[in-house]
Amino acid sequence: MATILAIETSCDETSVAIVKNCNVLSNFVASQMAEHGQYGGVVPEVASRCHLETVNEAIAAALEEAELSWSEIDAIAATCAPGLVGALLVGLTAAKTLALLHNKPFIGVHHLEGHIYASYLTNPDLKPPFLCLLVSGGHTSVIQVHECGQYTTLGRTRDDAAGEAFDKVARLLGLGYPGGPIIDQLAKTGNPQAFSLPEGRISLPKGGYHPYDCSFSGLKTAVMRLVNQLKASDPNLPIADLAASFQETVAKALTKRAVKAALDYNLSTIAIGGGVAANRGLRQLLKSAGEEHNLEVLFPPMKYCTDNAAMIACAAAAHWEVGDHSPLTLGVQSRMDLSKLQTLYTATR
Ligand code: KG4
Ligand code: ZN
Repeated sequence: MATILAIETSCDETSVAIVKNCNVLSNFVASQMAEHGQYGGVVPEVASRCHLETVNEAIAAALEEAELSWSEIDAIAATCAPGLVGALLVGLTAAKTLALLHNKPFIGVHHLEGHIYASYLTNPDLKPPFLCLLVSGGHTSVIQVHECGQYTTLGRTRDDAAGEAFDKVARLLGLGYPGGPIIDQLAKTGNPQAFSLPEGRISLPKGGYHPYDCSFSGLKTAVMRLVNQLKASDPNLPIADLAASFQETVAKALTKRAVKAALDYNLSTIAIGGGVAANRGLRQLLKSAGEEHNLEVLFPPMKYCTDNAAMIACAAAAHWEVGDHSPLTLGVQSRMDLSKLQTLYTATR
């Protein structure tokens, strides 16, 4: 049973956690939302500076909350890809320095594998194979989970991530940032059938549509056109109806793909991850589709859906179990497919 200290700085949350297998001993998260809010999105340079200012304090806080000393930590982990390069570098450099200083093994973690492992934090008995629907501000993927380190991405967005679509539509409706929670709140009082919006299907060269890939940029443009049309006749926009209709379209697109993939690949569990997992419309649709098709749908608590180091530590613990560790020469990568994940590790299984 390994005790792992992990650092996550891939985007706009500075997080340090200590996890003993799936047991979270501490999970410190400092959000930079206020810093980026004024710009309407994450500014990479601002993110790096904030991580730098916070990371030492976060490490100390995680150790203190877990009531552990360095001698009780078995390995040190950090997210090394994908993400903002400058932001990733802060966490990775801190983790590698600590590993060197305290003579501990170092484990680099793929951010998306972390999101997959978030489900284990509250469902430690979860056994692969299962399907993971990962929907965040930066990623939208339908992933078949075979075992630790073995994943097949069955579908992904061809353009905007689901969270990004929420943020962009919120901006064009003149709402704040991040847009997801605001649209979710407004949608409560709106009519999801008020406007018919395009789902964003991906055509295949031989005809038909890709069953698991999605696209949200056309939907965003459709909302923009609709808003301009509506504004021409009445400057008071039906914001709640627009929010509800947009949310319903995204939730339907995601649910349809996840359920189809689970059924096609004979996977009886769908685990959700990423910030958009908070969305009420998506939760409702997935829950009822799960009941209809006899699928188990796991929604980890929100603190583990949004970016956090506990999920990174949990993934690192699984790699530790199979003998994987990373060289101290490991660098960061802004993009990295899940299928390349084994390149992060030196140990042979
Ligand atoms: O996973 P996350 O915290 O960060 C990334 O790794 O991207 O996800 C943030 C995204 C944002 O785009 C935000 O608008 C969206 O998740 N989000 C939501 C909701 N809460 C957060 N989207 C829809 N409905 C929500 N309730
Ligand atoms: Zn994330």
